[in-house]
Amino acid sequence: MVQKKKRNVIVGQSGGPTAAINSSLAGVYRTAIDRGYQKVYGMIHGVQGLMEGRYVDLSDHIQSGLDIELLKRTPSAYLGSCRYKLPEIFESKEIYEKIFEILVKLEIDCFIYIGGNDSMDTIKKLSDYAIITGSDIRFVGCPKTIDNDLALTDHTPGYGSAAKYIGTSVKEIIRDSWSLETTSGQVIIVEVMGRNAGWLTGATALAKGEDCDGPDAIYLPELPFDMDAFIKKIKSLLKNKASVVVAVSEGIRTKDGKYVSELGNSIEYVDAFGHKQLTGTARYLCEVVSQECGCKTRAIELSTLQRAASHCASRVDILEAYEVGGAAMKAADEGDSGKMVVIERLSDDPYQAGTEVKDVHKIANDERTVPRDWINKDGTYVTNEFITYVRPLIQGDVGPIMVDGIPRHLYRPGFQDLL
Ligand code: F6P
Repeated sequence: MVQKKKRNVIVGQSGGPTAAINSSLAGVYRTAIDRGYQKVYGMIHGVQGLMEGRYVDLSDHIQSGLDIELLKRTPSAYLGSCRYKLPEIFESKEIYEKIFEILVKLEIDCFIYIGGNDSMDTIKKLSDYAIITGSDIRFVGCPKTIDNDLALTDHTPGYGSAAKYIGTSVKEIIRDSWSLETTSGQVIIVEVMGRNAGWLTGATALAKGEDCDGPDAIYLPELPFDMDAFIKKIKSLLKNKASVVVAVSEGIRTKDGKYVSELGNSIEYVDAFGHKQLTGTARYLCEVVSQECGCKTRAIELSTLQRAASHCASRVDILEAYEVGGAAMKAADEGDSGKMVVIERLSDDPYQAGTEVKDVHKIANDERTVPRDWINKDGTYVTNEFITYVRPLIQGDVGPIMVDGIPRHLYRPGFQDLL
């Protein structure tokens, strides 16, 4: 049989960025070139930019092995990201026709999308449209999200590095809190990302070790937040400790489903997926604690720092992100479509994992939360099972390439103007 000549690949990044998302981009790029594809295009700002005809030829920007290494160590989405929801196919065929017209013009064989559950919705819809129209372009998803909430995969690239940064930062916050004595005590509340899933907030427990007691309490979004019980807990902790450090998820909600962050601010921003912007949970709780307990308080919102901290990236995470990018490219090259690469854990100690591909229809729009039995009975801490799960994912370092004392990232003059 005559083998069809391999043509081009297009890759995009979508959803919230991470410290490892560009390592996956590097893995896709390297594997596409190694497998004989002519060009690897990068969508600028994901499928949203693609529809506006914005893309680059990645080989103009990744020109050496050193560039690949820099890309692996560059946080945020190198290509720019988007939060764009494709309409259902029957609602707006024109949008699909437009996207496929561009893909045909660019002679695309494989379309790889690096993203979370909302982004897998894009892979699902585009691969369905390809089936309906008889297109042989293959669509494969490459998992990514600091939230670690994708279904069917043991974990998602990006989570390990965010967890490592969060554990490290909380440990440093606790250390700092020991320095100055306050007569009435102080309460520090650290707000961590993860709208509906507490994987990131639970990672604050990684601060605990021989040299640190870890946070005093951890509140995950999986359980309803009870303000009275919270204040009672803080008061009882303050009886024995001068400094109390508590971690809360940005997504904690009261029994009636209202975000705690909404109790204290009037930010109304809602993204294309209908997600409300969450911010101010720690600030609001500090106000309540200050009124109820009369002590000094400090709110620390880790915000985007936790997903951009490539100086504290996990080696396991960066390497897995690269492998998963390569596995997505390999799957598309070998004929898979409508699939996402998943990570399967073989053992915790020694940590071993491999990749597989699974049907994206079973993954898109779903959310995997922390199991109830990995949270303690009164809902104020994670269990040892949680720690056993996350610990292997934060191991090892990928040292930044330092230039003039600051980590160097992959940058191309002119390219940023496209973003
Ligand atoms: O998608 C991951 C994430 O980092 C969430 O944890 C967080 O709620 C959200 O993105 C924040 O999104 P944005 O930066 O668009 O406000």
